[in-house]
Amino acid sequence: MALREIVVDGDPILRKTSRPVEKFDEKLATLLDDMAETMYFENRGIGIAAVQVGILRRCFVVDVGDEHGKLEFVNPEIYEREGSALGIEGCLSCPGKNGYVERPTKIKVRAQDRHGEWFDLEAEELLAVCICHEYDHLDGILFIDKVVEVVEDEDADDDDQE
Ligand code: CO
Repeated sequence: MALREIVVDGDPILRKTSRPVEKFDEKLATLLDDMAETMYFENRGIGIAAVQVGILRRCFVVDVGDEHGKLEFVNPEIYEREGSALGIEGCLSCPGKNGYVERPTKIKVRAQDRHGEWFDLEAEELLAVCICHEYDHLDGILFIDKVVEVVEDEDADDDDQE
């Protein structure tokens, strides 16, 4: 495993649409391992999408510290969204920025694992928010596009970064 460099806002790659993962090979496994290592290494990282390490493929890793532990999503599709709530978000690619974003409180997502097996997951609260945040990255959308209120807080760096 190896740490990868995080791409930060201003780099045009973050605005591009990621392509589906087609090969479930050793290269994908290494990418997912490296993404997780990079996420855990960074301060309060709870989610990371492949584009954030410069790879335009539709996959992301999340770990919000709940009972699910680390979850990997390849070619995900969010097919149900329920409720809505405002929560503070941050992003590894937008250092120093935090703000309130409206997200569903409950979602259903279908994705493949690193071996290509499909699974369904129902997620709520922070896990749902994190999956929606990472999912947006796959289509070139950053949380700062959706912020309804910027949080000016000198302790902002203590918040979760996705
Ligand atoms: Co992010």
